[in-house]
Amino acid sequence: MTKRVLVLNGPNLNLLGTREPETYGAETLKDVEALCHAAAAELGLSLDFRQSNHEGELVTWIQDARTTADGLLINPAAYSHTSVAIQDALRAVSLPVAEVHLTNIHQREAFRHHSYVSSVAFGVICGFGTLGYRLALMALADKLK
Ligand code: DQA
Repeated sequence: MTKRVLVLNGPNLNLLGTREPETYGAETLKDVEALCHAAAAELGLSLDFRQSNHEGELVTWIQDARTTADGLLINPAAYSHTSVAIQDALRAVSLPVAEVHLTNIHQREAFRHHSYVSSVAFGVICGFGTLGYRLALMALADKLK
């Protein structure tokens, strides 16, 4: 059966391409969505790609994934560093979670060095730009085999 992956993007990622391009690059979230769909097609995954600026909406989507997804890819953006609610939701659904950051969060400000999501993720990819999404989908496809 085709495995279903929910891709979640947190706050401000809707502004990719224009948001601090020296840090986050020139690609837009639409570009990231297209690359995820291309990778999913190659890997035989079905994909649901979403972005929200609202913590509660992300929590609800994670909860819904209990019945609609087999695995999760999440770039929680700034909520990585603040959200116990997102960690709790991810723990509650007990699906394999791959965490992605475009930038190397360990090379940046100290407040970005800790992610509440990392302890519930089976792997974390950071610093490889949009390629990280593709790498995480490869890891999920392998995990869901
Ligand atoms: C980010 C890193 C976070 O620290 C930041 O708040 C983001 C994006 C990344 O993809 O590099 O919004 O998750």
